[in-house]
Amino acid sequence: ASPLTLLGIESSCDDTAAAVVRVGPQGAEILSSVVEGQMDLHRDFGGVVPEIAARAHAEKLDICVRAALDQAALGLGNLDAVAVTAGPGLIGGVLSGVMCAKGIAAGASLPLIGVNHLAGHALTPRLTDDVAFPYLMLLVSGGHCQFLLVRGAQDFTRLGGTIDDAPGEAFDKTARLLGLPQPGGPSVEAAAKSGNPKAHRFPRPLLDRDGCDMSFSGLKTAILRARDARVADAGGLTVQDQADFAASFQAAITDVLTEKTRRALTLYLQEAPAAPLLAVAGGVAANGAIRTGLELLCAHMGVAFSAPPLRLCTDNAAMIAYAGAALMADGVRHDMTLAARPRWPL
Ligand code: KG4
Ligand code: ZN
Repeated sequence: ASPLTLLGIESSCDDTAAAVVRVGPQGAEILSSVVEGQMDLHRDFGGVVPEIAARAHAEKLDICVRAALDQAALGLGNLDAVAVTAGPGLIGGVLSGVMCAKGIAAGASLPLIGVNHLAGHALTPRLTDDVAFPYLMLLVSGGHCQFLLVRGAQDFTRLGGTIDDAPGEAFDKTARLLGLPQPGGPSVEAAAKSGNPKAHRFPRPLLDRDGCDMSFSGLKTAILRARDARVADAGGLTVQDQADFAASFQAAITDVLTEKTRRALTLYLQEAPAAPLLAVAGGVAANGAIRTGLELLCAHMGVAFSAPPLRLCTDNAAMIAYAGAALMADGVRHDMTLAARPRWPL
């Protein structure tokens, strides 16, 4: 098969992104990947505001697409297809991306491929490395937390996931409770470095229950109570208090994620994969403590561990272009009836 060159478009949350990826028999090559974040627009609101996100996407999509094509030194005529995130995500953002992709596909007479954002994350290990199916994917971000058994580009089995908050959300809320800056993941991780992980014993929800489901919303309530008690006692939080809270919180999250991953790996290994592998994706996969916990677990269970570079772990359009190419190779084509699906489980 000759190589396929795809433009990818992503706008399902708070990043506007466009990328050009070429996929051939030798593997995939990222020719360009442009990500335009919106964090600054939402910071004062303590979360992503859907209406602001949609407007920013509508403004930034054209600029990102142009930059991605320029950086790849290609024109629309060099493309084989346009791939776009068609869900799940915030409806306004997904719609902006789908409309942009439809315009380009119609204008340049290119096939249009709608991609599930979660499939984009789940297939990322194959964009960067020569990873064989089936593998286990742990997707941990600000919006998602699930175990996916990935058997093919369109063959995913969800083994379990969070029943409430995603870990990234828990990091962000914890940072807010402790007076640390957003995004909370990096600032909590940094504070935890000088803290005692045993200073507080925060709950490890659902560990006593079978299966791979997780829960993180109780953790923030526990931290809120412990913080209020400390503030009532001492009149405020010292830097060491912040560090101890952060380290104890991170230890709880790490314990839950590694124990649930152990169970998911046990289920996955029943498939007797020739080259067993755990891959992680999502912003929380950047966390050093969580990563170390997972690496030790994998070494212990004889499973390889793969983490894509951070810029491909977080939201980007290269993963959407790549997933689009994989779908195209399977014969998938969409047309102008492609719908935005805010809810779209894999
Ligand atoms: O994948 P991502 O960029 O966006 C989506 O949620 O889709 O993930 C962002 C999340 C944020 O909640 C952020 O606090 C968290 O990932 N994060 C981290 C770290 N870096 C980012 N969480 C823990 N440790 C980190 N080092
Ligand atoms: Zn994502």
